[in-house]
This record gives sequence, C-alpha cells and structure tokens, in this order.
Amino acid sequence: MSYFGVHSSSSSAAASPSSPTSTIPSGYSTPASDIDELQSYDSGIYNARRSQSVLVVGGLGYIGSHTSLELLRAGYNVVIVDNLDNSYLTTLDRIKVLRDDHYRNALLRPSVAFHEADYRDNRTMSVIMERYSARSGSAIEGVIHFAAHKAVSESIQQPLRYYANNVAGMVTFCSLLESLNIKKLIFSSSAAVYGEVTTETGLRISENHCLHETREWIDVAGDKRVTQGGCTAISNPYGRSKWMCEAILNDLAISDPEWSVVALRYFNPIGCDASGKLGEDPRTAPSNLMPSLLRVMNGQTPHLKIFGTDWDTRDGTAMRDFIHVSDLALGHVAALKAVGEARVGPGFHAYNLGTGDGNSVKEIVSAMQACSGKVIETQEVGRRAGDVGVVVADPTRAAAELDWRTAKSIDDCCQDLCRFLNIDSSAGSS
Ligand SMILES: NC(=O)c1ccc[n+]([C@@H]2O[C@H](COP(=O)([O-])OP(=O)(O)OC[C@H]3O[C@@H](n4cnc5c(N)ncnc54)[C@H](O)[C@@H]3O)[C@@H](O)[C@H]2O)c1
Repeated sequence: MSYFGVHSSSSSAAASPSSPTSTIPSGYSTPASDIDELQSYDSGIYNARRSQSVLVVGGLGYIGSHTSLELLRAGYNVVIVDNLDNSYLTTLDRIKVLRDDHYRNALLRPSVAFHEADYRDNRTMSVIMERYSARSGSAIEGVIHFAAHKAVSESIQQPLRYYANNVAGMVTFCSLLESLNIKKLIFSSSAAVYGEVTTETGLRISENHCLHETREWIDVAGDKRVTQGGCTAISNPYGRSKWMCEAILNDLAISDPEWSVVALRYFNPIGCDASGKLGEDPRTAPSNLMPSLLRVMNGQTPHLKIFGTDWDTRDGTAMRDFIHVSDLALGHVAALKAVGEARVGPGFHAYNLGTGDGNSVKEIVSAMQACSGKVIETQEVGRRAGDVGVVVADPTRAAAELDWRTAKSIDDCCQDLCRFLNIDSSAGSS
C-alpha cells in the first residue's frame, strides 16, 4: 500500500491514497451537537480543566496530528483548525480511532472537533472562535500553532508565500486571539532559527545561541558568551520566517505581560505513532529525509538523494538530531501543562526539543535498512542551498523547566515506520 507521494490538486476533502475513505464532507466543521455531546471525559482523569479545549491550528499535519493524539490521550479536549493545504481529512478519522483505542475501557473520552479553515481568514476564524465562547470568556484554554509552510528549498524560491503564511498569518491570528483574551500560545519554531551557528561553535546548540535581546550567558564549557539580540546566521527564508515569528511573539509578550508564549524549537522529527496507524502523509513532495526515504522503500522513487558528502562529520553526510515525533508531540503536552500550572510564567520562552544526540543521514539509512530488511538505493549529490552540516540540540532547558525528555530511540522510529508501511520489522537484522 502506498503511503507517500500524494500530489493532489483535487478537492480538499479528497481522501489520502494511503487512507481509508473519509466519511467527512468538504468544508467540514464538527456539528455543534457533536461537540456538546463529546464534552465528556474519562472518569479516571477528569478534573476541572476539562470543561475547556486546546485549539490546535494546523492539527492535521504530521506533527499536529501526533500532538492532537497525545493531547487526547492526556485527557485534553481538542479543537483542530486546518485548511488541508498539506494534509487530509482521513487523518482526523485516524486520530479518532486511536483516541477510541486509548479509551476503550473508559466510560467517557475527550472530544476532538475539526474546522476546515485557513487560519489567516479572520472572518471565518472569528465565527469558529465564537462557537467556543463561554460565560467566563473563551472555552479555549490554550493554543498550539503548527500552521505553516516548511520546505527550505521552496522558501528560497517562493519567499513571499512563506512570509505571507508563516509570518503575516501569525500576526493576523494573534490579533484575533488577543481580542478574545486568549493569551496562552505554544508556537512551532524550528532549529532553522540557529542557521549556521553550530558550524561556528561546534557545540550542541543552546537556546542562547538565538536570542531576541542581547544577553550574557555561560556555555557548557563554562565560558562566558554574549549573544546579540537578533539572529544573523539564518541561511534561508523558512528559517527567517520562524525567527521573525519568534521576534514578534517576544515583542508581544513584552508589550502585554498577560501573554505566555512558548516557542518550541524542533530539531528533526521522524517516526510515527507506535500503532503504525498515524504517520506522515503530506500532499506536497517531501523534502525532509524520512518521508523521502519511505518513498524509495515504497518504490515511488528509485533512490534517495543524499545532499552533500563533504560535510565535516563522521561519514561526510549531514548530521541531525533526529527525534521521534511522539516524543516531540509529548513536548507540547508538557509545555501546555507547564504554562497551565504557571511553572512557566508570562513572557516569551524558547525551548529546544531534541535528543541531544546526532546521527548522520547515512546512519539513518542503515538503521532503516537493518530494521526493514530492504535495500535502500541512494544517490550522492551536491549540497542543497540553505543546508548546514551539523545541527544537534542541547535539550537541558526543556528537561529542567518543562519536565520533558525524549524516551524513544532511532530503532523505535524505524520499527514504528515499518509498522506504518506494513513491513515486518522482525524480518530485518535489528
Ligand atoms: N517537520 C519538520 O521537520 C519540522 C521541523 C521544525 C519545525 N517544523 C514546524 O512544525 C510545524 C508543523 O510541521 P509539520 O511537519 O507537521 O508540517 P505539515 O505540513 O505536515 O503540517 C502543517 C499543517 O498546517 C496546515 N496549514 C498550513 N497553512 C495553513 C493555513 N494557512 N491555515 C490552516 N492550516 C494551514 C497544513 O494543511 C498542514 O496540515 C510547522 O510550523 C513547521 O514549520 C516542522
């Protein structure tokens, strides 16, 4: 069965070729009656918070869908908004199935509602938000914002499209949130904000390598450093769009101390839910490693292109901090909890979400070959514009302040992906 390579210009309601046919029509919004009926909870985890919901914008995409699922598993009600620009409605069906699996023996379960909308469309978003108004304000207890374009190469070719969606869209959206007095926001940032900083330092990247105000800090070697506010080493418009969003959110939090903003700087998410029922299913051609690799395994492309074999790394291929997407998703649950419990207070806070370990592209290819028992053909080509050699996180701040650590290994990532692809991983040598 084919799971990747979905290029569809057809209606947004089209089912992903990888998915069972969705029963949900185009332009879908969960009916109000369903929302009300589902505002009920697993008796084991009920608490007062559960009369509220978390708004997840871009919640049907790769990271958004895994985060929505982990929020539901943690007992949060979830409201998803997505324009299906890079996702399919069938993902909603999968999230519901996995939620129901989790609450199989419970009387009640958290709700998931969905609204198909562009988060930049202020009028439609206002109508949606109106549905969640409550006597005491809004029934939205916090927002997780994933909606963005994310391909580095594409951002170099189409910068305005990236700035319009990622930056201008966020400004419009935050203005709406502000008008509704919803001021708890978790923002999807990226290690791309660090640009080429690692190449210069040779250290794991700390949040202090990219700051929005000039600050002195001590690095892991005990040396005093000063980072000027404003990042100077960003190598592409995508990274700049994320940095701009962070800078705007930092300004917003300074202007109004009621805002609590957490920017989570993701390193390289791979893998999928351990069930193998939820994975990465983009409409657009993938540019990141794992979905490209899985396309080769599916026979959709003849070989995996390895961009650059002359980096200053163990085997010459680029080295990244690959993090299991479920660990990453749980980082959002941890951040939301930390903000909700005021362990993370008002203001702007940035956290790296990574493992702290690096693996090269060739090492990931070998791990996937060992796990699946399949040969993955590769083709070595030159470096891509905007790429950097080594990007590995220092994740200690997230551990200390969000009480979050990664739990899964590269082998877990590979095994879960084999399950997603219906490949028997016991056939491999791992
Ligand atoms: N995947 C990665 O490697 C990675 C790494 C670092 C940061 N990020 C960031 O994480 C976030 C999620 O990434 P992902 O990999 O899940 O991407 P994705 O493309 O799978 O998910 C993004 C979702 O947002 C939706 N969307 C886009 N524009 C929208 C709009 N205007 N209105 C409503 N919905 C919209 C898309 O349809 C999609 O479902 C993005 O902000 C991305 O920049 C991703």
